[in-house]
Amino acid sequence: VPVDPFELVVFGATGDLARRKLLPSLYHRFCDGQIPENSRIIGASRSELTRDEFVKMVADAYYEFEDHPDFKPDSFKRFTEMLDYVAVDVTNDDDGWNELAKKIGKQSDLIRIFYLAMPPRLFVKIAQGLDDAGLAHDKSRVVLEKPLGRDFATADEINEGVGRVFDENRIYRIDHYLGKETVQNLMVLRFGNILLEPLWNSRAIEHIELTVAESLGVEGRGSYYDGSGALRDMVQNHLLQLLCLTTMEPPASIDADDLRTEKIKVLRALQPVTAQNVKETTVRAQYVRGQVEGESVKDYLSDVEVDESKTESFVAIHTEIKNWRWAGVPIYIRTGKRMASKRSEIVIQFRPVPHSIFPETTNITPNKLVIRLQPDEAVKLWMEIKEPGAGGLRLKTLPLNLSYADNFTVRYPDAYERLLMDVVRGNLSLFMRRDEVEAAWRWVDGIIDAWEETDQRISLYPAGSDGPDAAVFMLEQLGDRWSEH
Ligand code: BG6
Repeated sequence: VPVDPFELVVFGATGDLARRKLLPSLYHRFCDGQIPENSRIIGASRSELTRDEFVKMVADAYYEFEDHPDFKPDSFKRFTEMLDYVAVDVTNDDDGWNELAKKIGKQSDLIRIFYLAMPPRLFVKIAQGLDDAGLAHDKSRVVLEKPLGRDFATADEINEGVGRVFDENRIYRIDHYLGKETVQNLMVLRFGNILLEPLWNSRAIEHIELTVAESLGVEGRGSYYDGSGALRDMVQNHLLQLLCLTTMEPPASIDADDLRTEKIKVLRALQPVTAQNVKETTVRAQYVRGQVEGESVKDYLSDVEVDESKTESFVAIHTEIKNWRWAGVPIYIRTGKRMASKRSEIVIQFRPVPHSIFPETTNITPNKLVIRLQPDEAVKLWMEIKEPGAGGLRLKTLPLNLSYADNFTVRYPDAYERLLMDVVRGNLSLFMRRDEVEAAWRWVDGIIDAWEETDQRISLYPAGSDGPDAAVFMLEQLGDRWSEH
C-alpha cells in the first residue's frame, strides 16, 4: 500500500548509516511501489556536494552495499529524480539553514520528516536550527538515531531540548532491532498462539537467555566504539528491547502506547546492579588476536587504535525481573564483537517435568524453545520423544523446527525499510518513548557506576571464540550454562 507523499531530510546524508542503510532502504520501498513519485528526499551534510555528486554517491553506495541482481536502471533513475542535496553545517548558524528553507519551503502539505543520522550531541542543536529556520511545522516529525546520549543525564538533555521543538508524539526514537522481521515475530509467537502464554512464567520457565553475538569487529568506528562499549552500544537498546518483548505482559493492543507502557514496566522491574552484586552478575571483556571464520584478526586495542582501554567489546549480565510473573527466573544477557559467528537468539529454558514415570536411569532433558533472530531465522522447540527400535525405552531430544527459509521465499525487507515507512505512516509502535529510553539508561548507568566504583577488571577472550571463560564461570556458579549453538 503506497504511503502518502512526504519530504524527508536526512542529516548526515554522506555518513555510513545513510549510505549503507537509509538510502538503499528508500530505494527498495520505491521499487515496491510504496513511495509516491512526488515525494522528496533531501540529503543534508557538511560536505559541499552538488545534487549530481550526491546522486552519484547514492548510486555508488547501492553498488557497494547491496546485492543487485534485480537492480533496475529505469526505476533507479526515477528514484534519483526525487533526490536533492543541501550543504548544512549544523554547528554554524550559516547559510545552510536558509538554503534548506529555500529547498523545502516553510509550509507544504506534505508530511515532513527530519532524520538525524548524526552524533547525539548535535540533536538539540539541529532541532533548534530547524525551529529557528521555521521548518519544524506541525506536520513535521523527527527521527533520532541511536545512541540517544551516553547516560541518563545526556539522554534527558536531548529529550528536553528536542522536546522544546517537537511534541513527544512527533519524535521517533529508532532502534533498528524493532524493525527486524523476527523481532516482530516475537509478538506474534507469544500473542498469536495460545500454547505458550500459560507456560510463560516462573512456574514453567527455569531461565531465559539472550545472545547477540557478532563476528564483525568495530569496523572503522573505533573512536565512537571505544567511548561507548558493548553495554551502551548494544545492551541499553537492542538487548533490552528484546528482553521487553520477550517478558512483557500482553498489551491490550499493538498500538504504540499500549505496547510501550508494557515494555517500560519490565525496564522498571529490572533488578539494579550495584557495587555489592556487580562482580557476580556482570562480566566485561575485550577480544585479543584470533581467528574469525578462518581469518586472522587483530586485537581490540589495535582495532580502536589506542594503547590502553577499559572499554568492553563483550558483556554478560545476570539479572532478574522483579515481578510476579518472573521473580526467581535468572535472565542471562550477552553480546560481543569478534565472536565465533553472527548469531542472535533467545532461549527459553523450561523446567524439568515434576516427576519421572520412567526407570531411574532414563535421562529426561527439559524442553527448550530457541527463537533464532538472525541469521537462519527459525523457531525450534526441543521435545523429548521415544527413539524408535527394540531394546528398551530410550528418550531422544529433537526439535519441532519452524525454519523461515523452509517456509518463505520472499525477500526480508531491511529493518530500516519498515521503520522509515512507519514514520511516514505516523505509527509509533516500533519506536521508543522517552520514559522507556530513560529507564533503560538508569539501569545501564547503575552497571557503569558499579564497574567504576569497584574498578571491575576486564577479562580477555580470543577473537573467534564464544567469549571469555569468566562468562561461563558466572553461570557455572549458578549451576547453569550458556546454550550451545
Ligand atoms: C548497531 C551497533 O546498533 O547494531 C553496532 O551500533 C552493531 O555496533 C549493530 O554492529 C548490529 O546490528 P545487526 O542488525 O547487524 O545485528
